[in-house]
Amino acid sequence: MAEIDALLEELAEFVQRFETILATIETTKDLLEVKEQVHAPTAPLATISRAMRQVAPEDRPRVGSRLHDARARLDAALEDAEQRVGELELSARLAAEHDDIANYLYPGRLHGTGALHLITQTRMILEDLFTSMGFIVAEGPEVETEFHNFEALNIPKFHPARANQDSFYLNYGERESTLLRTHTSPVQIRLMQSSKPPIYAIVPGRVYRRDTPDARHTPAFHQLEALVVDRGITFAHLKATIEAFTSAYFGPGIQARLRPAYFPFTEPSAEFEITCTICRGEGCRTCSGTGWIELGGSGMVHPNVFAHVGIDPEVYSGFAFGFGIDRLAQMKVALKDMRILPENDLRVLAQMRGVL
Ligand code: PHE
Repeated sequence: MAEIDALLEELAEFVQRFETILATIETTKDLLEVKEQVHAPTAPLATISRAMRQVAPEDRPRVGSRLHDARARLDAALEDAEQRVGELELSARLAAEHDDIANYLYPGRLHGTGALHLITQTRMILEDLFTSMGFIVAEGPEVETEFHNFEALNIPKFHPARANQDSFYLNYGERESTLLRTHTSPVQIRLMQSSKPPIYAIVPGRVYRRDTPDARHTPAFHQLEALVVDRGITFAHLKATIEAFTSAYFGPGIQARLRPAYFPFTEPSAEFEITCTICRGEGCRTCSGTGWIELGGSGMVHPNVFAHVGIDPEVYSGFAFGFGIDRLAQMKVALKDMRILPENDLRVLAQMRGVL
């Protein structure tokens, strides 16, 4: 009898101890270990069930019911612990996986959006302007023959415009027969060779000159050439076209003017200037106090040029002009130094989004 009471006492302690342990368990591994201890053959639950046969019949109901209660409490504690451990481990796993997904899959890391280069933006705006006036956009090769770049443009051999220091000649074919084009004007020749008038075309593109880089020059830059060949084209058309595109590009307040000049492939020729955008014509350092900035060259297509491409100057006349796209962009955003344009410094590129 006393022996049974001692056993029951031990059982009660056992239940209490394991209830406490189970209430704090956090991992499946610990839980499995504790479960093994609870059901161990040497633990009170097992030893008392085995001892039942020796318990006096009149004590059996009492012992049986205590054993039943003990088992029920431990089972309940085990079940609670199992559920809690399951929830803990699931939420830990979800947290870990959520972290992974947030970093690599969903919603994805934001990368900075790129921007079109200032030169590209300028070129696209100009292409829009000219195509809305009825011009087509044409292109020509950057590696040119001396015939297209010079000869056909009425720049004969030994003309100072051919001087070696201006051009990058290529080591290809006959000596000085191939070069990086020094202007977009050779595409005038290609256009007139490949199509019959009327011609209304612009040619944006890269050109190369052996210039020492400074605030206003880079050895590779961009030009936009315009060529019109049709019946009855006059200098007035040239002037009006230049005025139309400069005022469309710069807005009101910026004027264009022509000054007599010389180009071998146009006659008469003129340089065209616009009101300095920095001082709006007041006169400043950028425009050397004149209030005007030179943009490019222009003129009426020279009869010798027409002769090279077989166009009858008695029937057709035409005008052409060309200017630096880089210079135009520089004027629009009042850029102090052109040399940053081809450098592609990310700190500069990052500022190019939507500047125009
Ligand atoms: N090709 C000339 C230059 O690069 C500009 C120009 C183009 C002049 C068309 C007259 C006509 O300087």
